[in-house]
Amino acid sequence: MEELLDSKLKELDNHISSLDLTVKTELERRSILIEVLHKVQEKLGYIPIDAQKWVAEKLRIPSSQVFGVVTFYNFFSTKPKGKYPISICLGTACYVGGANEILDEFKKILNIENEEVTDDGLFSIHPVRCLGACGLAPVVKIGEKVHGRVKIQDVRKIIREYKSMEKNG
Ligand code: FES
Repeated sequence: MEELLDSKLKELDNHISSLDLTVKTELERRSILIEVLHKVQEKLGYIPIDAQKWVAEKLRIPSSQVFGVVTFYNFFSTKPKGKYPISICLGTACYVGGANEILDEFKKILNIENEEVTDDGLFSIHPVRCLGACGLAPVVKIGEKVHGRVKIQDVRKIIREYKSMEKNG
């Protein structure tokens, strides 16, 4: 495992040792696993395969079980994300409103593909299913902020906003 990864995960050692790993029910075991995975994601920003193996070893469960949970829940990510992850809804209402073209515009301007991060680490692009704000379609979520009724000509402006926010601290 990479040294940096190793040292960051080591910080979780104490937390894991404080957990009661003798719990019996499947549900209890799963909730411990989910809690630990949340902590790993907080530390690293995502949960790479090496970190999944590390968790499996610590909790004494098969890595396949960890992998299953990580891929089942969409709040876990196995790939690094940008500081401002851009989730573009491709659900029906948004799709009808031109979400695909908006996605393409983000990709073109940022010069990255889906699930990639820009070289400066600021942005990453993630097509997603319905974000639950269909009344505002087409919807783009950047970090925790929801942008509604996005038009293709807004894309450049939105990116500029985040870049200038970054510059002005
Ligand atoms: S379809 Fe996009 S928010 Fe529901």
